[in-house]
Amino acid sequence: MKVLVVGSGGREHVICWKLMQTGKVDELYCCPGNGGIASVATCVDIKASEVDKITDFAVSNKFDLVVVAPEDPLALGLVDKLNEKGIRAFGPSARAAIIEASKAFSKELMKKYSIPTAKYELFDDETKACEYLESQEMPIVLKCDGLALGKGVIIAQTLEEAKTAVHQMMGDKKFGDAGSTIVIEECMVGPELTILAFSDGNIAVPMISSRDHKRAYDHDEGLNTGGMGAVTPGADLTEEDIATIKRTIIQPTVEALKAEGRPFKGVIYFGLMLTKDGAKVVEYNCRFGDPEVQAILPLLETDFIDIINATIDGTLDQIDIKWKKKCSCVVVMASGGYPESYAKGYEITGIDTCGKLVFQAGTALKDGKLVTNGGRVLCVYDEGDTLDEAIDGAYEGVRKISFKDMHFRTDIGRTLNK
Ligand code: AMP
Ligand code: GLY
Repeated sequence: MKVLVVGSGGREHVICWKLMQTGKVDELYCCPGNGGIASVATCVDIKASEVDKITDFAVSNKFDLVVVAPEDPLALGLVDKLNEKGIRAFGPSARAAIIEASKAFSKELMKKYSIPTAKYELFDDETKACEYLESQEMPIVLKCDGLALGKGVIIAQTLEEAKTAVHQMMGDKKFGDAGSTIVIEECMVGPELTILAFSDGNIAVPMISSRDHKRAYDHDEGLNTGGMGAVTPGADLTEEDIATIKRTIIQPTVEALKAEGRPFKGVIYFGLMLTKDGAKVVEYNCRFGDPEVQAILPLLETDFIDIINATIDGTLDQIDIKWKKKCSCVVVMASGGYPESYAKGYEITGIDTCGKLVFQAGTALKDGKLVTNGGRVLCVYDEGDTLDEAIDGAYEGVRKISFKDMHFRTDIGRTLNK
């Protein structure tokens, strides 16, 4: 098979690596890829958001399958464009990808279909939003409706902070058009959990649970990032807990999207909070989570291509998806300064000799050397019979890798259920 993966992060690296493990892929390409992906795929210099160029490239090179990993090209309709040209593609249509592209849409969907989530109101007028805030308890959560690279969410502790955030989003347009409509919602309390699920438009099959670590520093301090590390399992859940989440959240979401004429084929990311009143949805994404998927895919036993095909063909009910009975951990190594400004171009050493799987994100090859080229540079993976074993193993790898000004959290997975 000839396969093209779209994207350039650690998520796309693990996807490429896993595709090659199936033994079914003869030729693998990635647009645009990165320094690490270049070791498993031919990288092609087209940005993930250049959907017309990618479509032309896929058509002229007669790909058998295109895997679209990031949200931007999905929201821009890359899968629709590929399908129109007769190319098989893994990922939701733009109509279904709206569950991530518009938080307002998602909240209305959850309300309509009684899917548990935080109580909320939508606003497109700054004055009305501020008036509403006067009557609310603090802390409160403010979210831009549109895509804002994970940065358009503010948890305000005081009324003043909340009003300032509303002004930044709506008045100053700090997040551009993403903030033209905002969601103001109740602040939920509890541990967070990620559940990714394959969805074929009719049914959803959850993967093993995972836990992201969004804040930049230890003890969940500092700014929100794309994710500084992940572990699986993400919480100590019983089979019954998982069945409840499936019955109350996962399957109703898939059915709701189908009923709305937006059948979802691909991966739905359920960002959940385990509140004292049960699991509630914090957010939906229309794709694999990064870095969660780097912790999840290495444990997948079933052939990845078979799952992708079943997802596209609507036959997920005919496949038994199996996982290694292990725990896993990925620790992200980032550039100093991330998620704010950081320098690029520093040489990275130790990857080949660290003895662990390393999935690369912000890396590039320059004059034959691997150098930093982004905020999240790479992540180090390990697995074990216990979570502690997996965590210790991942950190053993981290200690052998080095680049100037590197930054990583030292407590990934250590605070689970706290
Ligand atoms: P989101 O982009 O919607 O996932 O929000 C980013 C982060 O903000 C989440 O991972 C949570 O930690 C936090 N968050 C979002 N919504 C809420 C909420 N309603 N209550 C508490 N925390 C929230
Ligand atoms: N790790 C969070 C995300 O992928 O959105």
